[in-house]
Amino acid sequence: MKTTTTTLWVCIPTTWNKPPSVIKRSMKKDKRPFRTAATLQSETQQRLGFLGCGHMAKAIIRGFIVAGIPSDLIYATTKTPSSAQKAKQLGVGHIASDNQSLVSSCDMVFLAVKPQSLDQVLKQLKETVDTKVLSEKLFISIAAGKTCDQIAAQLGASHPRVMRVMPNLPVAVGHLAGAYCAGANVQEKDIERVVQLFSLVGGVLEPVTEECMEAVTALCGSGPAFVYMFLEALADGAVRQGLDRKVANQLALEMVYGACKLAKNDNLHFAQLRNQVESPAGTTVYGTSALENGQFRKAVINAIQEAVLRAKQL
Ligand SMILES: NC(=O)c1ccc[n+]([C@@H]2O[C@H](COP(=O)([O-])OP(=O)(O)OC[C@H]3O[C@@H](n4cnc5c(N)ncnc54)[C@H](OP(=O)(O)O)[C@@H]3O)[C@@H](O)[C@H]2O)c1
Repeated sequence: MKTTTTTLWVCIPTTWNKPPSVIKRSMKKDKRPFRTAATLQSETQQRLGFLGCGHMAKAIIRGFIVAGIPSDLIYATTKTPSSAQKAKQLGVGHIASDNQSLVSSCDMVFLAVKPQSLDQVLKQLKETVDTKVLSEKLFISIAAGKTCDQIAAQLGASHPRVMRVMPNLPVAVGHLAGAYCAGANVQEKDIERVVQLFSLVGGVLEPVTEECMEAVTALCGSGPAFVYMFLEALADGAVRQGLDRKVANQLALEMVYGACKLAKNDNLHFAQLRNQVESPAGTTVYGTSALENGQFRKAVINAIQEAVLRAKQL
């Protein structure tokens, strides 16, 4: 018998065999009770530290707070007082006085500074935090480029547990597209915790090998900027043809949103979806031909490649 399924993104079941990358469950088949984000997090009482609280950290924190994680479990440090103030306004419960006390206070430490600042931060932690304390923490780097082994070596503790998560800005609105990988000393329960935590905000967090993290960085981390550039160009094109700017912006946004929704719903190859819009000798195929002439696909493929190369330099 065919059953209708409903996908839930925020609540997660009390038990699971393996951490799924996307939390979905059938309401008809699965009668287990749900735990909400708040209950899950307060049960485990994991204190989450954000070393650096800029754009990306704030997006993650916003996602966690919306999902119900109590502010009291969220700690952060910043370089400047004005950023600390903004973090407080966002709902960060505790601004630690320095990175050393942040690490000491928290169970999970998100390394959320720019890749260029990471060496200096890790050096400072190695010099100021007791090696035993460093060994007890789970470090999660969201920085582009640096590997788990490099971070572990720079921390200098015995058997440091380091994971990498590559998130993206839409995590702020409950729609993460990202991936993770785990370093040598990370345990299965660490991975489960991280996957559970991110499953609370919704979207997808895929396990990948560390070699693929740079491709994920380019696709998911940088990808929103590529999409915004495409949106801007679409709206500019329509304005050039006489459409009002505000209307063009709104229609470009809704069109891309709807196209993505349909692609997700129908689960067809992207080329099949495109072919459904391209009637023979119609307007669309003239447009897509112009995109080919302008080397649109080549430009996008190069954008991913350049972002990967840059990540490897950092
Ligand atoms: N932005 C994205 O879309 C995105 C996507 C995926 C991954 N990432 C990764 O996320 C990381 C952060 O990027 P971002 O865009 O969020 O950068 P950002 O906005 O510049 O944030 C960096 C944060 O680090 C703080 N900071 C700098 N040095 C510090 C120190 N020594 N101790 C404590 N805090 C310090 C800064 O404080 P002040 O504000 O006081 O200077 C700021 O809050 C990067 O490694 C990047 O690769 C970013």
